[in-house]
Amino acid sequence: MKVTIIHGQSHKGITYTMSNTLLKYLEGEEVREFFLPKDGPDFCYGCNNCFLKGEEKCPSADKVQPIVRAMEWADVIILDSPCYVMEMSGALKNLMDHLAYRWITHRPHGAMFKKVGITVCSSAGAPNRGVLKSMGRQLKWMGVPKVYHFGLMSNAMGVSDLKAVKLAEIEKRAKRISIRAKSRVAHPHVGIQGIAMFNIFKGMQSSEKSAWNPKDKDWWVSQGWTQKVRPWKSN
Ligand SMILES: Cc1cc2nc3c(=O)[nH]c(=O)nc-3n(C[C@H](O)[C@H](O)[C@H](O)COP(=O)(O)O)c2cc1C
Repeated sequence: MKVTIIHGQSHKGITYTMSNTLLKYLEGEEVREFFLPKDGPDFCYGCNNCFLKGEEKCPSADKVQPIVRAMEWADVIILDSPCYVMEMSGALKNLMDHLAYRWITHRPHGAMFKKVGITVCSSAGAPNRGVLKSMGRQLKWMGVPKVYHFGLMSNAMGVSDLKAVKLAEIEKRAKRISIRAKSRVAHPHVGIQGIAMFNIFKGMQSSEKSAWNPKDKDWWVSQGWTQKVRPWKSN
């Protein structure tokens, strides 16, 4: 099992503890980890180079591309973030801005359609479902067909405040999610919703009128996706 973890924070607090517990139960044999903002890119400049000229033309390509490669390599991708003002951390959102060109609307990587995603978030007391879903949305738009959510209301401001009952909850839920994720890795598949989304954008990239970006269209054609090839099948 190959696991890539993108931490939306650089410190090893409650959220890190949750991801690390997942990792223990996932029995990740090979792990690649990135801590943001430390290992990540500058803020997106909005130059549109990734969309129009190619991802290698991004001014931060040297930081973005190793993370992209690690996502493509993994069986399981974990995105984690503490809840900051009811959102994911700014550091993680910044990385997501850099990955917009990988959305299914543009140039998704075929390998992403076979991955399992897990989002992890701890909040002190606020509901964190919205943050988990927001992180999950990013993975889904990159083509990841299944994303599990692992949220915790920590009732704490840091890992040293964490009560034993919360540590026990982390263990129990990490174990349960890992069992599901491992079974999904063993039997990857794309659901009806994923196929429908793919078909909508296949239609767009096949059409003369609505395929506005030649870079995207060339990608879809080169992958054979405007014909019979499908990224989730071993064609
Ligand atoms: C800048 C900042 C914003 C925060 N915003 C929220 C919030 O909106 N709701 C909440 O319940 N907790 C909020 N918290 C608390 C953390 O989400 C919470 O303590 C979390 O469990 C800490 O995880 P960590 O140890 O991984 O940093 C905030 C903390 C910080 C530093």
